[in-house]
Amino acid sequence: MNPARVIMGITGASGVIYGKVLLEELLKLDLEIHLIVSQAARLVMQEELGMPFVTGAFDPEAFLGRRIPRGRVILYDDTDLAAGPASGTFRSRGMVICPCSMKTLATLASGTGSSLITRAADACLKERRRLVLVPRETPLNLIHLRAMVAVTEAGAIVLPASPGFYHRPETIDQLIRHIALKVLDILGLEHDIPFRWKDLGERD
Ligand SMILES: Cc1cc2nc3c(=O)[nH]c(=O)nc-3n(C[C@H](O)[C@H](O)[C@H](O)COP(=O)(O)O)c2cc1C
Repeated sequence: MNPARVIMGITGASGVIYGKVLLEELLKLDLEIHLIVSQAARLVMQEELGMPFVTGAFDPEAFLGRRIPRGRVILYDDTDLAAGPASGTFRSRGMVICPCSMKTLATLASGTGSSLITRAADACLKERRRLVLVPRETPLNLIHLRAMVAVTEAGAIVLPASPGFYHRPETIDQLIRHIALKVLDILGLEHDIPFRWKDLGERD
């Protein structure tokens, strides 16, 4: 498949900066990024990044605060159930939802998705493609935990936004890029993020 595609969903959990840093890391790779942002994620962006909440199309360039080369990010509305990623026939390397809200997690666990993010994720599961979920919630109740078990049994990989500290992060960016490293590894994407155990010499 040329170019490789990755589907990325951003939902309304705290830690939307995890999604921002991951999107930046994906943009460093030779990939088409098919991006879907939930309405709740836009609310969190307003709260956590100070982005103005505007109705209408999401602006990935405003999100990253820079220009994005043409064709690198293909944006969909979360209500657009006729979009390509809604179908299992849409080829991709897989999908990541980062951050992933408990609502989206529970929706996936119950198979009742009616948004493009949850439909695209469900399609990845049924086609046995990689689906990485990056939840950000604490503490977890039994409903959250059972939903995590259900999606794991269905083939998803739950990768909590719980960065390691063994790479001795000095900045929030280094902390967060540790999660990006894990996501890219699981999606099978080659990348240059350091911070691997026993690679402590490779500090940013
Ligand atoms: C500022 C803010 C922070 C939130 N943080 C979380 C969170 O950390 N985890 C979570 O599961 N939900 C969180 N929520 C609640 C979700 O946004 C809410 O459940 C929403 O319905 C999720 O919808 P979505 O999955 O379609 O994005 C937060 C909401 C707001 C406004």
